[in-house]
Amino acid sequence: MRILITGASGQLGHELQHVLQDQQLTLADLPEFDVTKAGVEKRVTAAQPDVIIHAAAYTDVDGAEREPAQAMAVNAVGTERVARGAAAAGARLLYLSTDYVFDGRQGVPYRETDRPNPLSVYGRSKYEGEQQALAHCPNALVIRTAWLYGTHGKNFVKTIMRQASQQSELRVVSDQRGSPTHAGDLASAIKQVLGTNLKGIVHATGAGDCTWYELAREIVSLTGSPARVQPISTAESGRTAQRPLYAVLSNRVLADAGISLPHWKDALSRFLSQVKVEVEAK
Ligand SMILES: NC(=O)c1ccc[n+]([C@@H]2O[C@H](COP(=O)([O-])OP(=O)(O)OC[C@H]3O[C@@H](n4cnc5c(N)ncnc54)[C@H](OP(=O)(O)O)[C@@H]3O)[C@@H](O)[C@H]2O)c1
Repeated sequence: MRILITGASGQLGHELQHVLQDQQLTLADLPEFDVTKAGVEKRVTAAQPDVIIHAAAYTDVDGAEREPAQAMAVNAVGTERVARGAAAAGARLLYLSTDYVFDGRQGVPYRETDRPNPLSVYGRSKYEGEQQALAHCPNALVIRTAWLYGTHGKNFVKTIMRQASQQSELRVVSDQRGSPTHAGDLASAIKQVLGTNLKGIVHATGAGDCTWYELAREIVSLTGSPARVQPISTAESGRTAQRPLYAVLSNRVLADAGISLPHWKDALSRFLSQVKVEVEAK
């Protein structure tokens, strides 16, 4: 299968390259491939892909509040270009989206049919990207995920690991709930999605849910750090962008297709053991 991966150098992109190495891959990312530039459609069709996994995005949630035009240009307009390219190539499009399309007021896991109401510029830009993907590519699937972490790039798990090795006390938000998702597990689930004819929208996160505080405590405990974790509120965290307080996604549609991701605690423990082995081998 010929697969074009956008955002190939990003956190998920790296894991996709790994799990899909037996396929014919075309890797696209900045600076050579910029979805904000004209000519993207041609670049997409030139690769003659059967599938495009569109993981490229402006992902700085707080930064998007300061640079809304750039976030929209990448996540909304850029996705329209990629979707038009996918349609012209007759390719299937898998567009990565986020739990931040929801406002978090529902209190029970969000299903694919629930109405988005993003609270932040990032959430709005990704929701707009979803609509562009579905409008311009007849064979599009929006894959909403959440709280991603992996070996590559910046993420919460790596930040807490670093802070726990340098500080005696960490202050972590305890009133936002979601589902940590290991990027490698998501990449494996996406590989399985390629064997289905899922269309429309599907949710794909690690199983189970927790708060950022609970996640930090688990990281500290599993790494054996003596650091103490103090719960704080979202208001105390002083972050620029508003985030949903309850961003748990139901993965029922994915499960009905026979695909599931491991529980976040198992994935985290596996990830931390792997990092430990890599550090010890250096
Ligand atoms: N991270 C999360 O917690 C999370 C949660 C839910 C959904 N998602 C979604 O999952 C997908 C993958 O996330 P990720 O964590 O792997 O993101 P990431 O590590 O930030 O990777 C995104 C990639 O896109 C590239 N990119 C940015 N602007 C671009 C442009 N104009 N043209 C082409 N490429 C561009 C980035 O390059 P630079 O690094 O050089 O900017 C980066 O390599 C994204 O669609 C994201 O919205 C992520």
